[in-house]
Amino acid sequence: MNYLIGIDLGTSSTKTVLFDEAGEVIASAGKDYPLYTPNNGWAEQKPEDWRDAALETIAKVVKDSGVDKEDIKGLGISGQMHGLVMLDEAGEVIRPSIIWCDQRTEKECEEMTAKAGAEKLIEITANPAMTGFTASKILWVRNNEPENYAKCKHILLPKDYVRYILTGEFATEVSDASGMQLLDVPKRQWSDELLEILEIDKNLLAKVYESPEVTGTILPEIAEKTGLSTATVVVGGAGDNAAAAVGTGVVEDGKAFTTIGTSGVVFAHSNQITIDPKGRVHTFCCAVPGAWHVMGVTQAAGYSLAWYQENMGTSYEAEAKEKGCGAFDIINKEVQETPIGANKLIYLPYLNGERTPHLDPNCRGVFFGLSSMHTRKDIARAVMEGISYSLTDCKDILSEMGVEVNDMMACGGGAKNAVQRQMMADMFGCEVNTVTATEGPALGVAILAGVGAGLYDSVEDACRKMIHKDPEKQCLPNAEATKEYDKYHKIYKNLYTALKDQYKAMAEL
Ligand code: XUL
Repeated sequence: MNYLIGIDLGTSSTKTVLFDEAGEVIASAGKDYPLYTPNNGWAEQKPEDWRDAALETIAKVVKDSGVDKEDIKGLGISGQMHGLVMLDEAGEVIRPSIIWCDQRTEKECEEMTAKAGAEKLIEITANPAMTGFTASKILWVRNNEPENYAKCKHILLPKDYVRYILTGEFATEVSDASGMQLLDVPKRQWSDELLEILEIDKNLLAKVYESPEVTGTILPEIAEKTGLSTATVVVGGAGDNAAAAVGTGVVEDGKAFTTIGTSGVVFAHSNQITIDPKGRVHTFCCAVPGAWHVMGVTQAAGYSLAWYQENMGTSYEAEAKEKGCGAFDIINKEVQETPIGANKLIYLPYLNGERTPHLDPNCRGVFFGLSSMHTRKDIARAVMEGISYSLTDCKDILSEMGVEVNDMMACGGGAKNAVQRQMMADMFGCEVNTVTATEGPALGVAILAGVGAGLYDSVEDACRKMIHKDPEKQCLPNAEATKEYDKYHKIYKNLYTALKDQYKAMAEL
């Protein structure tokens, strides 16, 4: 039997899974690490934490599985996108990584737009200048920490730093590189033109591969530490969403998925490149060679729920302990006991600014309609609804662009929650399914590794054989609920318009 490893370098933890070649989980291990917010709107993590988590979890799955290391044919890495990792001449980390949800680079985005022109940016990178993307983070370091910029010899994305540790290679692949905003997305290669305009030396950037291509093999000292073989190939892998697409079989036109991780995403596959001229959704290269995807991102989806639970819903933890269940079992029960609209309470999930549909780093979270009658039940329901309204905004833009979606899968932590899945089916007005394999991005990159190692003919072929819908978890939309949600969604949308100028004024204080 052949085996494959998929690593998913998330924002809260790294999860490593060892699969057999049929996609069955043989062993899995995870390790958490902190996120630092040194200033309002900033978000950093330590690449060394990602390195340690990857090495530790690889060693654990290899040991726990008991498989012969020579049978582990390939390894793929998926990861949180956009994070800036800067290494010096010796390959040492220069400063903490400024990660995807950091919002400090508004000025640098203005600088990019002024230098390149808004139209050219969209034409080359398929997106307007984005605070979350890597290019503006590079400019921020150059503008604010020139001593660090001067030391920088290599710029990598989070998962590509882990690849460097495992293989010694400076490599990336098209799906994650699309989120750096330095890639010519239609041509799937670095844009010399944009690099010149922004005065960024191309030599700082890694070599770009397609996602299933082999980028290297395991270094002897890493093989020693982890129990892997030096013959195991490491493929390009993919950004977390492109990897989740493969892991849920979203590799053909008409297919889409929604995910609630820390952020929330609606992602549709597209064999043709389609760009929103208003830049409200991202167009990136996907992990299927020669194809793209269109994706709307809401910044604080699962993060909103975690924030609510940690800061306002602390009573759930104690109660869950007492009852011997999980806090979410209680939250879900209470959400179901509360009517649609949370007794006229609306939550805007803009804790970390917002991408789709507003592209506004200054907006922040809001509870609208708070009344003395509201209890934690209403607040919990409002938070869940707010996240789902935001995902519905993402889906609506895809429809507006003519990207057809007739098959919506749910994945990520939120997909495990039947209440949340039903809410999405009702708001989207379409069926929402899950797949039997729950490992999403880790399975996606393991499949890519299988293609790179020659175990499967193509990404599409492997998905057709290995990814199946779970008939027991199908959620059908309820037309009455859709109508009811629409009323609140309208007010939800108007709230941002009403508050836009106040967000800016608040940011300028
Ligand atoms: C995608 C994005 C997030 C991060 C974190 O553009 O920013 O999905 O990759 O998960």
